[in-house]
Amino acid sequence: MLSAKVPLEDLGDDRSVTPTYASRGLSEPVSRYEMPEHSMDPASAYQLIHDELTLDGNPTLNLATFVTTWMDERADQLMAETMNKNAIDWDEYPQTVELQDRCVNMLARLFGAPEHQTSMGCATVGSSEAIHLAGLAMKWRWRAAREAAGKPTDKPNLVMGANVQVCWEKFARYFDVEPRYVPLTEKRFIIGVDEAMALVDENTIGVVGILGSTYTGEYEPIAALSAALDERFAKDGVDVPIHVDAASGGFVAPFLQPDVAWDFRLPRVRSINVSGHKYGLVYPGVGWVIWRDEADLPKELIFEVDYLGGSHANFSLNFSRGASQIVAQYYNFIRLGKSGYREIMESLAATARWIGGELAKRSDLSMLAAASDLPVVCFGLAGKPGFSVFDLSALLRQRGWIVPAYKMAPDAEHIEVLRVVVREGLSRDLATELVHDIGAAIDELAAGHKVEQPTAPAGAPAPGHRRGATRVSKPRTAKKTRAVC
Ligand SMILES: Cc1ncc(COP(=O)(O)O)c(C=O)c1O
Repeated sequence: MLSAKVPLEDLGDDRSVTPTYASRGLSEPVSRYEMPEHSMDPASAYQLIHDELTLDGNPTLNLATFVTTWMDERADQLMAETMNKNAIDWDEYPQTVELQDRCVNMLARLFGAPEHQTSMGCATVGSSEAIHLAGLAMKWRWRAAREAAGKPTDKPNLVMGANVQVCWEKFARYFDVEPRYVPLTEKRFIIGVDEAMALVDENTIGVVGILGSTYTGEYEPIAALSAALDERFAKDGVDVPIHVDAASGGFVAPFLQPDVAWDFRLPRVRSINVSGHKYGLVYPGVGWVIWRDEADLPKELIFEVDYLGGSHANFSLNFSRGASQIVAQYYNFIRLGKSGYREIMESLAATARWIGGELAKRSDLSMLAAASDLPVVCFGLAGKPGFSVFDLSALLRQRGWIVPAYKMAPDAEHIEVLRVVVREGLSRDLATELVHDIGAAIDELAAGHKVEQPTAPAGAPAPGHRRGATRVSKPRTAKKTRAVC
């Protein structure tokens, strides 16, 4: 989240947070954008913030996010116990390092890493950091090979579907790599193999395959991409690795679709990222990146850091980070085991299929995906009903449901859809209410109900808009508060 400093003179009477508990220690306004001169007692500060945060959406009803919103009590306890540990203090917290090592080992094996190779990996803040690290490794390896062959190294490119998550665009921009996007079509919402191959050349540092598109939850054809790249190598020697963005699918496919080869079982797959905080079932933020072999992670990217009493190998974009998510990931691994993850994923998929089946009964909806791969339901409006998916999303929000509406990626932007991500916490009981409320909202809109749209719909899953109904103060302009997430 990027926030801007607000000019105080523009604020008028919007300068302070005015408490309502007048006679209970909170009688003075609290400055909104300047640090208060004086302290207040913790109970008052807590109450003020606690109350203000009730304006946020309800995480259980937030069907926009893939990120975990519920963990069991023992996990909560372990996380609370380890919240004060910095995961980077290796010498002080060697056992936390040991737990990370065990997680990397378990993941490498879950993803089919061959025993004769030395897989490497690390915890990250999420898949975005993992993707930046994997992208850097691909760029460094490509450059070393080009230099060894006496060829120019000024034009690296990366081939991926236009449906990639924004972190891939960021990686390309921040690290000077030309992004080559395979456009979507009206019928194909993921990468096309032939189309991708047409973009590959000797400057391609890698091809990205997504295991679980953010837009529809579909798996990309990674085995087919791999076969096509093998063929290309045999034909003209262009040897391009695959990175699998398994942000969501990395904890789904091994349990629901174990026979689908998308991982290190394919020799061309050199690295994989996965979000521990998505279907890894840990609160935000933890991700993982795993390289098939140490040769896939160039040594120049690894820093030997002397810090607080010891020297350690480090590859990360940030330095300090909380240890509790790593601990919680390990807890899930041993607490649930493979059978526990399988049971949960099967149950989520069953709920998603049920929601999809119920929605498919309506002639005013068109289904795009219903747990075909990830436990995600993606649907649009059939025909021209006189209202949009954005209206439907806004009306559902009034009931508390957060169901994002968005346009597909280029060149399928004219297709507008809604998406429900089924996570732990969305019981069949709540799903029944959801299906009912979607139907009721459609009927209301079809009867001419108008919904106020707070902002113009953007191309990506809608960020949490502030809805007029719950706000008393006037809405802020982009000039006053610029926040991007
Ligand atoms: C396919 C894909 N890749 C990467 C990301 C970024 O993941 P994170 O939020 O863990 O940084 C997402 C997030 O939704 C995603 O769906």
